[in-house]
Amino acid sequence: DSLSKLQLLQRHIRTFPDFPKKGILFRDICPILKDPATLTAVTDLFEEHVRKNYKEVDLIIGLDARGFLFGPLLAQRLGIGFVLVRKKGKLPGPTLSVAYDLEYGKAEAEIQEDAVAPGQKVLLIDDLLATGGTLYAACELMRKQQAEVLGCMVIIELKELNGIDRLKQHSVFSLVQY
Ligand code: PRP
Ligand code: ADE
Repeated sequence: DSLSKLQLLQRHIRTFPDFPKKGILFRDICPILKDPATLTAVTDLFEEHVRKNYKEVDLIIGLDARGFLFGPLLAQRLGIGFVLVRKKGKLPGPTLSVAYDLEYGKAEAEIQEDAVAPGQKVLLIDDLLATGGTLYAACELMRKQQAEVLGCMVIIELKELNGIDRLKQHSVFSLVQY
């Protein structure tokens, strides 16, 4: 059931203090990927959330880099497409970009101009919500593409960084909170 799937997930998140900088408590999702039953449980939990709350979704939008690990599995389960939002300079052809701040640095998010059609309904996915800068930038890209953001999904939400406030126009679903 959902509870045991969540327990399995919780047991497969490791915590490293002072990475990549002093004062950051880094939540490592690598053990999830190393254990197929846990990866299946995570995909199940996301799929259950989408099927229950969003009857019509056209695309899953994954964020560089760890959103790429979970997004395609979910999109395939749902029988819909997956689109990449990448860090600047990685995507060929015409692109749109938005700059943002991170818990530990700065970055720029980019998407191919033709990746999403106006009016398409999308769900954004990443491994973790910290300050919300990354998901906010991705939502900005969706706004530029005139897509409809149904919601954002993450495995982990870091509550004390209030990322949810930054994304206040959007619903955010998380599997585990710290
Ligand atoms: C991490 C994480 C999220 C983002 C969350 O990625 O995977 O994408 O930070 O932080 P925020 O809510 O403060 O924006 P990071 O930028 O470290 O890059 P990576 O996925 O390439 O490791
Ligand atoms: N991305 C931003 N903050 C993070 C954290 N504390 N752990 C893992 N990934 C992160």
